[in-house]
Order: sequence, then C-alpha cells, then structure tokens
Amino acid sequence: AIAELEQAFQAKIDADIKIEPKDWMPQAYRQSLVRQISQHAHSEIVGMLPEGNWLTRAPSLGRKLILLAKVQDEAGHGLYLYSAAETLGASREALIEALHAGKAKYSSIFNYPTLTWADVGAIGWLVDGAALINQIPLCRCSYGPYARAMRRICKEESFHQRQGYEIMLTLCRGTAAQKRMAQDALNRWWWPSLMMLGPPDAESSHTQQSMRWKIKRHTNDALRQKFVDQSVPQADYLRLAPPDPKLKWNEQTGHYEFGAIDWNEFWRVLKGDGPCNRERIEARRRAYDEGRWIREAALAFGAKQARRARG
Ligand code: 3HC
Repeated sequence: AIAELEQAFQAKIDADIKIEPKDWMPQAYRQSLVRQISQHAHSEIVGMLPEGNWLTRAPSLGRKLILLAKVQDEAGHGLYLYSAAETLGASREALIEALHAGKAKYSSIFNYPTLTWADVGAIGWLVDGAALINQIPLCRCSYGPYARAMRRICKEESFHQRQGYEIMLTLCRGTAAQKRMAQDALNRWWWPSLMMLGPPDAESSHTQQSMRWKIKRHTNDALRQKFVDQSVPQADYLRLAPPDPKLKWNEQTGHYEFGAIDWNEFWRVLKGDGPCNRERIEARRRAYDEGRWIREAALAFGAKQARRARG
C-alpha cells in the first residue's frame, strides 16, 4: 500500500501537480520541507539584524524609510514561511526554540557584520540578489503553500535588490572615500554571497532528492554560476572589482570562470563559528523574551474576540 501511495505521489510530482497540505506525502518529503522552509524563515528573521544595525544611522530620511520598509518586508517573509511550515504540521514555537537552541540553521550570510553604510548597499545588491536567484525557481516548487509564499516574497525581494544597487551606484558616483567604502563592502560580501547558495553539488546532502521531488529546480552550483554571470557586469557598471583575480569571461561556455571558494570558512560559519553567530542568536533570544508580553496580549485579545463572537 505504501509503495502504491509513493508511486502515485511521485507521478503527481513528475506531472507538475502541486502537493497541497491535505494530500498524502512521504514522511521524508514532509520532513525535508519543514527543514528547508523553517530555516528559510529563520534566515529572514535573523536577516533583519545586520540591516537593523543601520536603521538609526541611515544617511538621510529617505534611506531610513527605504531600509525600514525592507526590514519590515523581511519580517513578513518570515511570517509567510513559518505559516507555510505550519501547514506541514510543524509547531512554530518548536521551530523557534530550535533556532534559539542553536539546533536549526539560518543562512550563513547573516553571520557577517555590517561595518559601514555601503554594507547596506552590498547586502541589497548581492545578498538579496543571490536570494532572488535561489527563490525564483522556488516559485515552481512542488509544495503549493511554499511556491505561493515565494511569489509574493520575490516581488518584494526585487525592490530590495534594486534599492541596494542604487545605494552602491550613489556611492560610486560620490567622493573617492565613498567609492573606496563601496569597494571595501564588495570585498567583504562577495565570497560569502557565493557561499549563500549552498555547498558544491558534490558535497550537497539534499540536492539529488530535492531535485527528484522538484523542491529544488536547479543545483547549488548552477545557481551560483548564474549569480556570478549576473553580478560581474553589474560590478563592471559600478567600476568596482570583485575580489577574485581568477574571474574571466569564457567565450566558449558563455559563463564567467571564477576562483576557488573557501569552503572551510563556509562549514566553520555553519558550525556556529562565524564573526556574528553568537551575537545573532543572543539578539533573537532577547527579542523573543522582551516580546513575550505582546504575544500574550495578542492571544488574550484573540480569545476575548472569540468569546464575544460566540456570544
Ligand atoms: N547557510 C546555512 N546553511 C546552509 C547554507 C547556507 N547558505 N547552504 C546550505 N546549508 C545547509 C543545508 O541547510 C543543509 O543542512 P541541513 O541538512 O541541516 O538543513 C546542508 O547545508 C547541506 O546543504 P544542501 O545544499 O544539501 O541543502 P539544501 O538542499 O537545503 O540547499 C539551500 C541549501 C539552497 C539554502 C536550500 O535550503 C534553499 O533553497 N533554501 C531556501 C532559500 C533560503 O533559505 N535562502 C536563505 C536566504 S533568505 C534571504 O536571504 C532573504 C533575504 O531577503 C534577506
């Protein structure tokens, strides 16, 4: 019976029929989705911290408003994604507890510090750029609620990327010191952005199965190559040089060749030993504790509304 159910399930996947919450699905499919969607949600919430650091220091009111809107969007993305995880039977409390206990991952990229205003530009341009490259294919993911959450998230993400690139453009057209600040930010964010798209395919434990289940539509290395091919001309336009002397256009392949990535740094950051890992989890724990009264008040209000509705 299970074999038939699995066969029918895979036939739906192969026919691009969306899997919905009430459909039968293999436990392993459910688990892998809760793993990926919850870590995606954690990434959005932790991702608010590096940018939040510049909310009170933005160079103009306009920049502050745009950054505020972006940080608010990230919170909303986290909300959609925790809700998508809940449709698979996951408990939001348990997911958040796993994050606070250091048992759940979030994107490696958010463990790096935002040292200057140019970092806010580099994050929008490169980090949201890489996020978009990874999230657009997720709009075609086989699990309905995740694919639908992605559609709205991608619309907001493209605004994030454009505002970041515009910050870099403004700096590069500014004083020599501003241009140096933009180059310094590119130097520090370039390689971690390439790592964001995941380990090399040969070291990826989930890619094969995720591709069979059409959760992942392209491999990590394919999306990384797409990211490099897109970002190098954008850096050229800024007259900034990515920190990779091996970057070279290959007429034959129609792609840029690039240097070796330091995967030791990637796995070290994943193990919790990046520049800001401890600080990020501390900040999340503190925000969660300080926000307890708001959650309790909202639940009490909801219960009162429900009693009133029952009459
Ligand atoms: N940071 C942290 N962990 C990572 C990672 C990264 N950049 N890349 C891979 N990993 C982890 C995986 O989670 C997996 O660990 P696990 O088994 O404990 O979950 C392990 O490394 C092996 O990697 P795989 O490639 O085999 O894992 P996946 O098939 O899950 O691929 C992924 C990794 C491409 C990140 C995939 O999980 C994915 O597409 N996730 C959804 C998108 C996402 O989470 N993006 C993060 C950024 S969100 C963002 O930037 C929002 C922006 O608005 C700020």
